[in-house]
Parts: sequence; C-alpha cells; structure tokens
Amino acid sequence: MNDVASPPPTAPVTDALPLKPRGKVLAVTSGKGGVGKTFVSANLAAALAKRGYKVLVLDADLGLANLDVVLNLYPKITLHDVFTGKAKLEDAVLPAPGGFSVLLAGSGMVEYSRLTPEVRGEFLRIMESLVPHYDVVLLDTGAGISDVVLFAVSLASEVLMVATPEPTSLTDAYATIKVLVGQQQRQTVRLIVNQSARPGSGAAITKQLQQVLDRFVVSEPGRGVKLVHQGDIPTDPEVRQAIMRRQLLMQAVPTCPAAQAIQHIAGTLQQDVIPRP
Ligand SMILES: Nc1ncnc2c1ncn2[C@@H]1O[C@H](COP(=O)(O)OP(=O)(O)OP(=O)(O)O)[C@@H](O)[C@H]1O
Ligand SMILES: [Mg+2]
Repeated sequence: MNDVASPPPTAPVTDALPLKPRGKVLAVTSGKGGVGKTFVSANLAAALAKRGYKVLVLDADLGLANLDVVLNLYPKITLHDVFTGKAKLEDAVLPAPGGFSVLLAGSGMVEYSRLTPEVRGEFLRIMESLVPHYDVVLLDTGAGISDVVLFAVSLASEVLMVATPEPTSLTDAYATIKVLVGQQQRQTVRLIVNQSARPGSGAAITKQLQQVLDRFVVSEPGRGVKLVHQGDIPTDPEVRQAIMRRQLLMQAVPTCPAAQAIQHIAGTLQQDVIPRP
C-alpha cells in the first residue's frame, strides 16, 4: 500500500521541471459511465511512461474522482486543496506507480460537480501551469455531457472516446461526439473500443459509427467529423483482478491481453499524435 499522506521526497516540483513546449493534452472521455476511462487513463499513462514520455494524469472527474483508488494512493493534498488555496499546486502533484505523475481530486464534493466561474478559472490556471512541464497530460474525465466534463474536454488537443461494444455505450458515444462537434468544432475523435468481444471488432464498430456521424453530424458546413479507430482492448479477467488488488495492470500483469492492447494503443498514439519524447 502506498501511503502518500505526506508528499514523498521524489514528488515533482513543477517549477523545477524543464519546460516542454510541445506538451499534448489528451482527454479520456466517454458517453456512458463505467466503460473503462480511469482504467485506460492510468494504464495508458504507464505505457507512455515506459516509452520515455513524461506523463501526468489529472483526475478531471471532479465530483466523483477515483483514480486514487485504482492507483492505491491516499493523497492528503488534492486538486480541491489547490482550488481553495489550501495547498500549493506543486505539493498536489504526486508520483504514481508506473512512472508517471498524478494530480488527484477528492470524491463526493458536490461543489466541484458544477462548472462555476471559480472551478473554471482554477482549472484553467492549473492546466496552464502544468501542461508545459509534460510531454503528455491525460485528463481522466467523468462520463457524459455535463458542463464540467465538456469544459475539461475543451482543454484537450485530442479526444480519446472510450466505448464498449454495447449499443447503449455506442449510442451515448455518438451523442457525446455530436455535442463535441457542435460545441467545440472537433474534427477528429479517437475511439478506443474497450471490452471488445473479439479481435478486430472495434474497426467494424468504428466504421458503423462513422457512417452514422457522416449522415447526421457536421462540424461546419460541408465538413464532417473523422472517427479514428485508435485500438481495441479485450475483456480480460486480469483487469478486474488488478483493480480489486489496487494494482496497475501494466505493472502487475504486463503480458496479459488487455495490458498488451494498451501498449499497442500507446504505440499508435506515438505514431499519430504525440511527438517523440
Ligand atoms: N478490458 C476490461 N476487461 C475487463 N473488465 C474491465 C475492462 N475495462 C474495464 N473493466 C471493468 O470496468 C470497471 C469500470 O472501469 P473504470 O472505473 O475505469 O470506468 P470509468 O469509465 O472510469 O467509470 P466512471 O464513468 O464511473 O468514471 C473496472 O473496475 C473493471 O472491473
Ligand atoms: Mg472513472
């Protein structure tokens, strides 16, 4: 068990870090809840860190944060303490197992589940301070189209939409993409099909969803949204077991099918969107 009640000596102090002017912000989001965003965020961060990237995961699920649970961290200082001026930003950034940094949020704080001018301003300030220090910042957002989620996604250069093959998840992914195109003029959304039934099924799902988007959703007159199939992650019993043990899958069972799939996605992201570290 990692008790990080007091910041460990290795906690990164942002002011001391070199600036990374090419820092990329990737929002890991979904239409439906419980499809695997937090699991993907944490393990993708570890896979990218393994490739040499300096990675930060920010728990942007402000009302119901649980990245700390997945990573078995017990932070005394969270994003909320930074928001309220009780703690300094650099004290809230913690090293996570897997070789990346995290900024965790507290859970059950209803005041942060709404996008007030304060939440908006603080969120922006924190992002502006942190992003230049990392190669990649992953935002583990909540599900759906609440104003907090949409604001978090608006801060990202890339959207990673996580969906399962279930019709309910795909319908919600479609609805969310429609809102992102309408509100944020997104022209590209990257789809990760989690808990895919068989290898390759995500490509067919992406094609079907693209056809619906082509018919009904346009980002600006004459311009559609491109859905990029970023990869599939199979249903794997090791995922649940790792979460139950509060271990990072990439560390506990790096050779299992789901961990391998995440490493593959890290590779496709390296190729498509993230400049080499
Ligand atoms: N590839 C997989 N194989 C097996 N089980 C999985 C897989 N991906 C996710 N799960 C299961 O789904 C659960 C929910 O995952 P997770 O908490 O990451 O979802 P989420 O999208 O972040 O949820 P929320 O919308 O509440 O934030 C996990 O605890 C795990 O049991
Ligand atoms: Mg989550």
